[in-house]
Amino acid sequence: MSGIDSFAGLSSDELNAHWMPFTGNRHFKAAPRLFVSAEGMHYATADGRSVLDGFSGLWCSNAGHGRKEIADAVAQQLANLDYSPAFQFGHPLSFKLAKRLADMTPGDLNRVFFCNSGSEAADTALKIARAYWRAKGRPEKIRLVGRAQGYHGVNFGGISVGGMVGNRKTFGPALDVDHLPHTLLPENRFSRGLPEHGGAAMAERLLDVIELQGAENIAAVMVEPFAGSAGVILPPKGYLQRLHELCDQHDILLIFDEVITGFGRTGSAFAAEEFGVLPDLLTTAKGISNGAIPMGAVFAREGIYDAFMRGPEHIPELAHGYTYSAHPVACAAAMATLDIYEQEKLFDRVKELAPKFEAALHGLKDCPHVIDIRNYGLAAAIQLQPRDGEPGKRAMEAVLEAYNRGVLLRWTGDTIAVAPPFIIEPAQIEQIAQTLKDILQTTT
Ligand SMILES: Cc1ncc(COP(=O)(O)O)c(C=O)c1O
Repeated sequence: MSGIDSFAGLSSDELNAHWMPFTGNRHFKAAPRLFVSAEGMHYATADGRSVLDGFSGLWCSNAGHGRKEIADAVAQQLANLDYSPAFQFGHPLSFKLAKRLADMTPGDLNRVFFCNSGSEAADTALKIARAYWRAKGRPEKIRLVGRAQGYHGVNFGGISVGGMVGNRKTFGPALDVDHLPHTLLPENRFSRGLPEHGGAAMAERLLDVIELQGAENIAAVMVEPFAGSAGVILPPKGYLQRLHELCDQHDILLIFDEVITGFGRTGSAFAAEEFGVLPDLLTTAKGISNGAIPMGAVFAREGIYDAFMRGPEHIPELAHGYTYSAHPVACAAAMATLDIYEQEKLFDRVKELAPKFEAALHGLKDCPHVIDIRNYGLAAAIQLQPRDGEPGKRAMEAVLEAYNRGVLLRWTGDTIAVAPPFIIEPAQIEQIAQTLKDILQTTT
């Protein structure tokens, strides 16, 4: 492309300058999809259209867009204390936020380590798990176990434990990790909510890994309570409970990655509470600050934190952290976000809307190409039969057409994912379902 204006006042040189993440750059830059503002449930595009947000941005704007309370809190914090060194010094808001968050988590997941993203949260949790066993005098417990189709961000720990091979294989050897099979079973197709079949048996595949590697060498198992990025893959009933039991029996830490499921997506604050399973470590990001300012947080059970609190008191107990851990502006955004969740009872709203959402999305069952529909809370996935020789293209085309028709969704492989902000109105749920229905009728 040459240097002439090509779109929305952007020159082709400007378009080319930004190497976009997880994006077909050439495809995007040939016809950019640009948002210029957002309010409530809608984005405004650079070409002057309104687009209903059916994906909470990217699983993160749970309270909708343009929340003045968050903007005001951020502005005030920036004016008052723009930055405070993260190591060896602090600021009061991070402690208040940590306590408030700890009060929201189940059990004694009461110690909070702040970071800036889901990827950082994943690698932080994996490092804590290994360091924990070392602190307990069992340094041989270092192996990590993930799950096929799992997504734990893009840093080296996360891509190792993660099971989306496309995110890993380009980058050469990562950590040597074992993977459980995913829980997408044909007999559970078109389940509404948690699938019935195979829960305990799928969890018991951990016994194969234990037999292969020895529990004495395994530090932790990391899973998403339900896999989001790979297309809302739900745990069959009893799966997480059995996984927890096995981890407990074999002294293996259980890590839940709640970057997507945390902060209300299931109708409870955390999936750990919703599914009644208490992990040892729990990672979050996204909805913690409504996506307005980057933030992540890892929750550890008290016993894990306590294991580190020994040795000379002036020496950092965990040699880990980020310049922007507990950034004051992110803390302010998170505080304001939690206020909104609480005052507007948004997690209860997810529970109220979930049956309507489920019925609307499962109404697409008989549309052409649909081979599975999965849902929980305000998350759903419609899986399409891949087009011969063009995997991923059918869902991509459907999502791009939805965008043209004013609805933002996401595709991953041949799956269309839906995860709207919790402020969505029932009529807007219908709009999403109807738009998809119309598109699928004509999709080739
Ligand atoms: C379960 C899970 N973990 C980790 C991440 C990575 O988060 P981030 O993109 O903030 O690094 C994501 C992002 O979608 C996620 O869904």
